[in-house]
Amino acid sequence: MKILLASSIDPAAIKALEKDHDVVRAFNAPEEQLVELVADREVVIFRSGVMISAAVLDAAPNLELLLRAGSGLDNIDVAHAQAGGIRIVRVPGSSAQPVAELTFGLLLALVRKVALADRLLREGHWPKAQLGGPLLAGKTLGIVGAGRIGSRVGEMGAAWGMRAIGCVDRPSPAVADALAERGVALTDFDTVVRESDFLCLHLPLGEQTHHIVDARVLSHMKDGSFLVNMARGGVVDEHALYTELTEGDRVLGAALDVHEHEGEGVISPLGALPNVVLTPHIGAMALDSQRLIGERVVELLGAHERGSLDELLTSDEVVPAAAP
Ligand code: MLT
Repeated sequence: MKILLASSIDPAAIKALEKDHDVVRAFNAPEEQLVELVADREVVIFRSGVMISAAVLDAAPNLELLLRAGSGLDNIDVAHAQAGGIRIVRVPGSSAQPVAELTFGLLLALVRKVALADRLLREGHWPKAQLGGPLLAGKTLGIVGAGRIGSRVGEMGAAWGMRAIGCVDRPSPAVADALAERGVALTDFDTVVRESDFLCLHLPLGEQTHHIVDARVLSHMKDGSFLVNMARGGVVDEHALYTELTEGDRVLGAALDVHEHEGEGVISPLGALPNVVLTPHIGAMALDSQRLIGERVVELLGAHERGSLDELLTSDEVVPAAAP
C-alpha cells in the first residue's frame, strides 16, 4: 500500500512496513508539507505532533485509512475524515500503563524535587535540608478523566495507600462500580479539584475540555496542592497556571508532560520556574509499549489490505462517528 508515515514509530514496525509497502517518511511535518506528500497516499500512520487537518485530507483523494499509533484524536479532523469516507483506527491499548507509570514518575520528581536535587548535586552541593517533600501515601489523588489511563493511575495510587477520587464526563452507576473495584471513588469535577492534594489530568482535549483548568479552577484547588498534566496541553490555561505559580498561594508546583505549544525549539515560560517539571510528551514512550503499538499497527494495516480489518478491531480501536 502507499503509506505516509508522518510520525516516528517503533523501529521494528517501520522496518516491517518498508519491507512490504511503499512508505514515504515525513516525521512531524508541517501542514504544507503533509498536503504535498499525501497526494497519492492510501494510508497515513501517525502519532501526536502532526495535524491531520481538513486541508491534508482534501489533498489525498486516494486516502482510505488514518492509522493513529496511539490514543489521542485531537490532532485529526475526525468529522471531515468520516464525511469523506476515510476510516480512522487507533491503537490505545498499550498506552495506559506507560502513561500511568510516568504520572507517578513526574509526581515524585515534582514533590521530592528529583530534578533539582540532581542538578544541585552535579554542581557540588549537598542541600539535603532544602529537599524535603510530602509523602504520597495518605494523601488524596484526584483524577480528572478516570478512563483507561486515569483509572489505572487511581488503582496504582490506591495501592500506595492514597485516597483516589476521580470524575468522568459521563458518570453512571456502572462506571462508579467499575472504578470502586479499582479503588477509585467516583465524584464530580469540583470535588476532585477542591479535595485533591495531587490533581492529575487524564482527559481528552476537545471543545468542552479546552482550558478546563483555568484561573477559576486553579483558585479552587486545595491549599498546598500540586498539578500534573498528562492529557493534552490545551486542557490547561498555562498563562493562568504561570500566574498561580508565581503570584498565587494554593498550587505549590506543577508537572507537565504535554504543553499548549509543543515541538523542537519551543520553550515554555513555565520552564523558568523552579517548582515545575517539564517533559516532552513522553507519556507513552515506554519502549515495550511502543513495540506493542508498532506490532499492532503492522497487523491492522495488513488486515486493512486484505479487507478483513473489521474482524480484527477491538471496540476501543474503532473511532465512533463524530457528532454532526
Ligand atoms: C497518544 O495519544 O497516544 C499519546 O499522546 C502518544 C502520542 O501519540 O504521541
